[in-house]
Amino acid sequence: MTDQAQSSEALARDRRLQQGIDQYGVGSWELNLATRELSWSVTARRLFGVAPDAPVNFDTFLSLIDLEDRERVAQAIQRAIDHGDNLDLMYRVADRQPSHWLRSRGGLVKEDGGAGYLCGIVLDVDQQKVLEQELRLQQSQLRSILDTVPDAMILIDGRGIMRFFSSAAERMFGLTEKEAIGQNISILMPRPDATRHDNYISRYNSTGERHIIGIGRIVTGQRKNGSTFPIHLSIGEMESGGERYFTGFIRDLTEYQQTQARLHELQAELVHVSRLTAMGEMASALAHELNQPLSAISNYMKGSRRLLAGSRDPNTSKIENAMERAAEQALRAGQIIRRLRDFVARGESEKRVESLAKLVEEAGALGLTGAREQGVVLRFRMDPSNDSVLVDRVQIQQVMVNLFRNALEAMSNAPRKELSISNTRVADDMIEVTVSDTGAGIPDDIKAKLFQTFFTTKDTGMGVGLSISRSIIEAHGGRMWAETNSAGGATFRFTLPIAPGEDLNDGA
Ligand SMILES: Nc1ncnc2c1ncn2[C@@H]1O[C@H](COP(=O)(O)OP(=O)(O)O)[C@@H](O)[C@H]1O
Ligand SMILES: [Mg+2]
Repeated sequence: MTDQAQSSEALARDRRLQQGIDQYGVGSWELNLATRELSWSVTARRLFGVAPDAPVNFDTFLSLIDLEDRERVAQAIQRAIDHGDNLDLMYRVADRQPSHWLRSRGGLVKEDGGAGYLCGIVLDVDQQKVLEQELRLQQSQLRSILDTVPDAMILIDGRGIMRFFSSAAERMFGLTEKEAIGQNISILMPRPDATRHDNYISRYNSTGERHIIGIGRIVTGQRKNGSTFPIHLSIGEMESGGERYFTGFIRDLTEYQQTQARLHELQAELVHVSRLTAMGEMASALAHELNQPLSAISNYMKGSRRLLAGSRDPNTSKIENAMERAAEQALRAGQIIRRLRDFVARGESEKRVESLAKLVEEAGALGLTGAREQGVVLRFRMDPSNDSVLVDRVQIQQVMVNLFRNALEAMSNAPRKELSISNTRVADDMIEVTVSDTGAGIPDDIKAKLFQTFFTTKDTGMGVGLSISRSIIEAHGGRMWAETNSAGGATFRFTLPIAPGEDLNDGA
């Protein structure tokens, strides 16, 4: 074969190679370092949007790169030329909306004595970039979700090694992500779970039997400092790259359990107090009813003793004595009843500075259970600047619960069901609380009797709620009354003393 034939054979092979590469979307390029002329394959031209016959040089190339990437690309190419670095660049094409990504790879080819060439390929990596960006977006979305939810998230692999540890998990367990990742999840559990956890996983891996996955459970967690706390744990599972992973979502139940305990405590207190106050009411009713017969008894005694005074009966002095005792006992009976009433009305009350909003909220938790299910709209409009009152918490909650229950009962058949609670300053030292409903309201003939003990219009009513409530409010130095509101329902108002030290100028 002649030299000429050999070189034309080589040229043909080059061309075939070139075409082959071009067919798969990979363009090729060659930069003559002496002339700065560029030669681009068909595909390279297509990728840059340049006509097949248009002359191109290095400056044309730079002008086709997005301004934001241009400087970086020019510098990298200069480094490749100066130091022989390999080129691998991703950049955006100029004037494309949305932006479009290309990738160039190449290297220096020196010819003896000459300045040489920079040669390489260029390909479209837009899809890859879009995916990458989507992935990054999803990752940051996931991060922000995990940062926001109070639940902690931990990812472990099939051997129980922690691979992801959310910032909520850091807070919950007092352990940094760095400390946690790579460690076995069992460090977050007290014994005996900690020692058994590896077995749990391997049992699941071999049997596929689910004990906790997809179900969720209350278990105990252990912080870095060794203290333990109740958690609700739900576990999901997934597979990636042939490996099994488990995701755990963890909610700290400490506060929840405290709230539950507090609610139970409150409920118990209220039951206790309502029994006490009902007793008080009973006692004052009894005192009232018994006072008359008791004073009648002592009057009859006095009369009888006067009659006896002129008698010659030898037993006179004994009878007189007995009558005097009887009168004393009648008097004592009256005193006992009066003391009982005073004890229940005034005693046992413990006044403290309390937050009205909190009182309303707690009383609502007890008195308004089921309200939303009944379709009642609740409007709490508590003014935080008039919040501090000096009261006996349990007693005032008793009043609120009474009013809430009455309102719900009054609205049970009403077409419109709205319950509003608000507060406002009414004097320098008093705050007025308003409880309004859209129930049947209060007929005029009933208004006067509303607060009387044992007055009720309900079949199963006791008729003591409002009378007790009014005595509680009056024992606090406040007033309580009822009105008919514009919706035709009832509005109950009561006043309470502002906590001392609450600046009087606040409202001015
Ligand atoms: N929000 C209200 N709307 C209409 N009537 C009410 C309301 N609250 C109380 N009442 C009337 O006052 C009466 C006395 O209430 P209360 O002392 O709490 O006793 P009870 O609820 O046991 O009847 C009720 O039977 C009812 O007729
Ligand atoms: Mg009632």
